[in-house]
Amino acid sequence: MEVELSLEFVRVVEESAVEAARTMGRGDAHLADQAAVEAMRRVLETLPVAATVVIGEGERDEAPMLFIGEKVGGKTGKPFRDVDLAVDPLEGTNLCATGAAGAITVLAASERGGLLHAPDCYMDKVVVGPSARGAVDLDAPVRDNLQAIAQSLDRDITDLVVVVLDRPRHAQLIADIRRAGARIRLIGDGDLSAGIAAAVLGTGIHAVMGIGGAPEGVLTAAALRCLNGEILSRLVIKDEAQAERIRSMGVRDLKRVYRTEDLAPGKDIIFAATGVTEGSLLKGVRFFGEGVRTQSLLMTTANRRVRFIDSVHLADRADVKVRFS
Ligand code: FBP
Repeated sequence: MEVELSLEFVRVVEESAVEAARTMGRGDAHLADQAAVEAMRRVLETLPVAATVVIGEGERDEAPMLFIGEKVGGKTGKPFRDVDLAVDPLEGTNLCATGAAGAITVLAASERGGLLHAPDCYMDKVVVGPSARGAVDLDAPVRDNLQAIAQSLDRDITDLVVVVLDRPRHAQLIADIRRAGARIRLIGDGDLSAGIAAAVLGTGIHAVMGIGGAPEGVLTAAALRCLNGEILSRLVIKDEAQAERIRSMGVRDLKRVYRTEDLAPGKDIIFAATGVTEGSLLKGVRFFGEGVRTQSLLMTTANRRVRFIDSVHLADRADVKVRFS
């Protein structure tokens, strides 16, 4: 995919982050999400792409925009070739609403068919960085996986930090991790940004385990394709009605283990995210009167680049000054 297009995608996540950040701490998750979705949709429309949303805000009947199957772009200039889009306009709506760390805006794009059209259900996941790729098994006992991760990082289990969503469904998992001796960071929301952090050295996060959203799993996989990390996952299906729906989407084996390349098989993947609130990987949006500062992550499989982009969005006035930080 064209390199310039990746910078256009950064503009999309930056704008949605700024709009979401304006609602930070207002205690209204819906308002925060709506601000991010509207901004993302507005900027997407200006891009020279003909895109189909494969992961979005939900099914057509439940989401007014960025619904699954929606076509966006293709209106400005000559469209670039068709792309599939996976978006999470605000990952961590509650984090933004409460001003807690780790909210980000996210977009992944690929050539047609390069991102799994995952059902909107839960997914059991293990996410690790490049060193532990190939060393973990979704069905292995927690202790064995932790042992393998520790070995790959040349450290003791006691020196590992595992991120787990703080949910009652994880009581057994948390007990198992504690028994194995690893340290745990319980998070209120945001297993996608935690998954990215697990694949980047120096973030202090070595793995993510547990059940989160399947759409977030696909977006995590898109990021991990660029970072050489690994996600192993399986759909978690709550009842027969959901199983039927998922079968009707063409999924034959409901117990299938999806690896990174199954979730994001694209040859040409672009992943872009912007921090909304402060996080382990990205700074949050900072407003400074004469402008706004954002930090984004832009990664591509095609030219193997990981870029951290610090942008200053200046107010449209002749006397505006740019700060260093
Ligand atoms: P949203 O902010 O996009 O709603 O998702 C937050 C999140 O915590 C994800 O990171 C995670 O995968 C999922 O929700 C977990 O779902 P639940 O809150 O139902 O346990």
